[in-house]
Amino acid sequence: MTDDAVDPHTEHPDPPLIHPLVQEVDGRAFPIDGRSDPAVQVSLVVPTFNEAANIGQLLRSLHEVLTGTGTAFELIVVDDDSPDRTWEVAAGVAAELPGIRVLRRTGASGLATAVICGWAHARGAVLGVIDGDGQHPPAVVADLVAAMDERTDVAVASRHVPGGGVSNWSAIRRLLSRGAQALGLLLLPGTVGRVTDPMSGFFLVRRDVVAGADLDPVGYKILLEVLARGDVRRVAERPYVFLERTEGESKVAAGHYVGYLRHLMRLRLHPLRSRALVRYLLVTAVALVADAAVFLWIFDQQGWNLTRSAAIAGEAGILLTVALHDLWTFAGRATRGALDRIRRLLGVQIALGTLLFGRLLVINVLVNWFHLGPLAAFCVALAAITPASHLLGSRLTWRGVRT
Ligand code: GDD
Ligand code: MN
Repeated sequence: MTDDAVDPHTEHPDPPLIHPLVQEVDGRAFPIDGRSDPAVQVSLVVPTFNEAANIGQLLRSLHEVLTGTGTAFELIVVDDDSPDRTWEVAAGVAAELPGIRVLRRTGASGLATAVICGWAHARGAVLGVIDGDGQHPPAVVADLVAAMDERTDVAVASRHVPGGGVSNWSAIRRLLSRGAQALGLLLLPGTVGRVTDPMSGFFLVRRDVVAGADLDPVGYKILLEVLARGDVRRVAERPYVFLERTEGESKVAAGHYVGYLRHLMRLRLHPLRSRALVRYLLVTAVALVADAAVFLWIFDQQGWNLTRSAAIAGEAGILLTVALHDLWTFAGRATRGALDRIRRLLGVQIALGTLLFGRLLVINVLVNWFHLGPLAAFCVALAAITPASHLLGSRLTWRGVRT
């Protein structure tokens, strides 16, 4: 090669897009596993897009704060293939400090999907999120970790509790922020009203709360999504001051409010569209049909007595309900193993068995006192008691599974 020959590699000065410490993910599938790795307690996701100037300092601070809490942690940077190569800067820090993972996501973008993608790759029993631009003070992570005792499902960093605030916001910006919150309260009081700062993008959540919760990654406000669709019982809040950006720029300005409105509407309509609810009702319908079919077969064809036939048919419906819900309706939810399955089976058995007993009573009363034909009595009892009992039984036993 002579001196003036052009080396094809120096023509493109960009270093290669492959880095040993960066995990490439395509970021489209988001199942959050119910199981965690006992070696990690807290997995904190840092979504980034063009934060090369901020991410290094932030990771160092977070590492220091989390080390100080004494928790086993991992920091997961989810970078959407930033043109400023944020992922590479993050990988540089990961080479120096333990517990830092860098995911470089291609083929998908967006803040909410990035967070869910990070959680899907996380190993801790507690999942969390913090901005990658330094606007969320790293020290507050220690307060959130401390707030996550056994009974806390979500710990939110809030600007609107004593000690919290915004550093330097104009009156108009404050008004817009508060207006958005008021609108949310109006449309979704049960969700938005649970926290003082529903717009916060800085919080921790127990893995069980979101595992299999059908989080809709279209939503931009990920906390709303968690509160609306997760099984959240107890929320803790800790104050924080939203700092000014020193480097880079905000990505979520334009279309922000329209997106937020759409998100609120989606959550408002969500119970009607929930896949779990549809399956839930279908299983009940199938169980009823099976119940009736078994009854007709043993009572009509085999000539067994009325009470015994109705009892066996009811039991068949119960077992079918349990099996279908476990294998289909709520498949993929945090089941916590075989013991949990047995516990559920017993629970459904007790709840539905009691109501089945009521059904047998109704059948006998109808036949003996009202002189109804046995088939008619069976149908009346089936229609009157069984649907409600199936729904109730499932509701009690798969408690916490939102439909
Ligand atoms: N991976 C990824 N993909 N990250 C993104 C994307 C994206 O498409 N868009 C933004 N981010 C990252 C940014 O790099 C930053 O780390 C963080 O998400 C927040 O984005 P900003 O653009 O800085 O948002 P903001 O400061 O206007 O809003 C923040 O404050 C709100 C409080 O009102 C966010 O934290 C919101 O979540 C929060 O609700
Ligand atoms: Mn920001």
